[in-house]
Amino acid sequence: MIYHDAIVVGGGLAGLRAAIELNRNNVKVAIISRVHPTRSHSVAAQGGINAPLGNHPRGGTDNWEKHALDTVKGSDYLADQDAVIRMTKDAARRVVEMEHWGCPFSRTTEGKIAQRPFGGAGFPRACYAADKTGHALLHTLYQQTIKLKHAAERNEMTIYEEWMVTDLVVEDGNCVGVIAMDMVTGRLEAFQAGVVIFATGGAGRIYGNSTNALINTGMGIAIPYWAGIPLKDMEFIQFHPTTILGKNILITEGCRGEGGYLLNNKGERFLANYDDSKKDMEIAPRDILARNIVREIMAGGGFDNTYVHLDLRHLGEKKIVERLPGIRTICIEFAGVDPITTPIPIQPGQHYTMGGIDCNTEGETIVKGFYVAGEAACVSVHGANRLGGNSLLDTIVFGAIAGGNAAKYAQGLTGKKGGGALNDAAKRAEQRIDALLKSEGSETPVDVKTALNKIMDNNVGIFRDASKLKDALNVVRTLQEKYTCIKLNYTGKRVNLSLGWALELKGSLDVAEAVVAGAIAREESRGSHFRTDFPKRNDANWLKHTLAHFNTGGVKLGYKPVNIGPFEPKERKY
Ligand code: FUM
Repeated sequence: MIYHDAIVVGGGLAGLRAAIELNRNNVKVAIISRVHPTRSHSVAAQGGINAPLGNHPRGGTDNWEKHALDTVKGSDYLADQDAVIRMTKDAARRVVEMEHWGCPFSRTTEGKIAQRPFGGAGFPRACYAADKTGHALLHTLYQQTIKLKHAAERNEMTIYEEWMVTDLVVEDGNCVGVIAMDMVTGRLEAFQAGVVIFATGGAGRIYGNSTNALINTGMGIAIPYWAGIPLKDMEFIQFHPTTILGKNILITEGCRGEGGYLLNNKGERFLANYDDSKKDMEIAPRDILARNIVREIMAGGGFDNTYVHLDLRHLGEKKIVERLPGIRTICIEFAGVDPITTPIPIQPGQHYTMGGIDCNTEGETIVKGFYVAGEAACVSVHGANRLGGNSLLDTIVFGAIAGGNAAKYAQGLTGKKGGGALNDAAKRAEQRIDALLKSEGSETPVDVKTALNKIMDNNVGIFRDASKLKDALNVVRTLQEKYTCIKLNYTGKRVNLSLGWALELKGSLDVAEAVVAGAIAREESRGSHFRTDFPKRNDANWLKHTLAHFNTGGVKLGYKPVNIGPFEPKERKY
């Protein structure tokens, strides 16, 4: 059994930031990551991180209150306002901290951190590093962890990379550690720790058309769910308006923030024809734009009934090369178009999981010693619709908060606990894995995953209704059955990627069930959850968070109130 004072699961922004905070507070910490940390999905974030610095010529009077109001309004009033205030008050100092740690932000002519407009924000508030902001931030934090790892005078900072956590172990309401598998050798280990933080990212890959990395299977959300911790607001899935046709790679909101146009097949800026986007046009919030793009395509304004154009040509070569170099490369390599001369074919695609593991503003869950942060968590700061630029902020603000609280908790612990429970859990995991390796079933994991992706894309997308959602639930349940009969095509233990994916597929299926069940129950439209059979928001009945509790006979739903603060719920007008 391996022992650490604290374990962080996930090597992306939230996980690294939490680990740094633990280390700064003299706690010996280990990071367990499914991939090398700089391959975590945070690296794919493009356009920016919000902080009301007021560095843009139009940003002068921006402040945390305005950022908070925009966030709450963007969330369609489902965000917990205490959490939003916590995040927006911390935003500036956390972004400046990243700058001091060496993050190569783009600069204004005076040398300040450059900011660009993003959707739903009253001011240009998204601080950026060209169109590779996640990459710049993640590498900055990774450098910090490496520095701490090698600093003799500091506490232990161990990194287990390409290890996959299979179980969270809880004894008498206390977290005692995790079980994890070394993907290279196939060896299972029990990791004992009185403090565990999950920062494992979202569940985007329950969908096929997604901007997410393939590792975002939802497994990191499913593991605490299986251990009895509820999931919150899983029905709220964000569809990014602009992903590249067919491949669904993100085409950053920064393109529109820099002045790009969305055009229909007549070359018109069609957003002007829709009430909720005619004022802010290309920088209206994402839920509104994704819907209006689909409406325009359905009304015959698309190309091949599938896509519209994002036109950057008028920005000119200099701006595109300086501020959107990654986008240019993606367009050339994946769509065969150079945005300097040719519009980009785009369509909406799944992008973000607003819901996640239920926690409070401290990152605490119902299990003592178990904390969560980042996209895996639902604090909730994003409510029913996240504003662009707030997810990177969420990772570093709540990563630091969870790490700080976890450190205090770890300092109060005495002795190593839960050895018996960990040994039992390791044995059960071993048996589960052996059964999977020996299974002679008739189903292949890839067929089950493909069917899951298809039903989620088709029936649990931007426009939903009871009949499509109920069909989706039936399909997900059939796939859960089929999962019990899967057979792997490689049964060795070393570097068995098909074993890793097969284990994660169970997580995807159970998380998808929570998404669909929550969507069926929520008979209203709010933020990203649009029900054609209930097209209006219904605060009287639905201004509340959904809680999904794992149950072997099928997910059980419950609800809890939203924390309303200074911003009274109003009709959301843009
Ligand atoms: O469009 C983007 O660059 C994505 C940003 C975000 O999801 O916050």
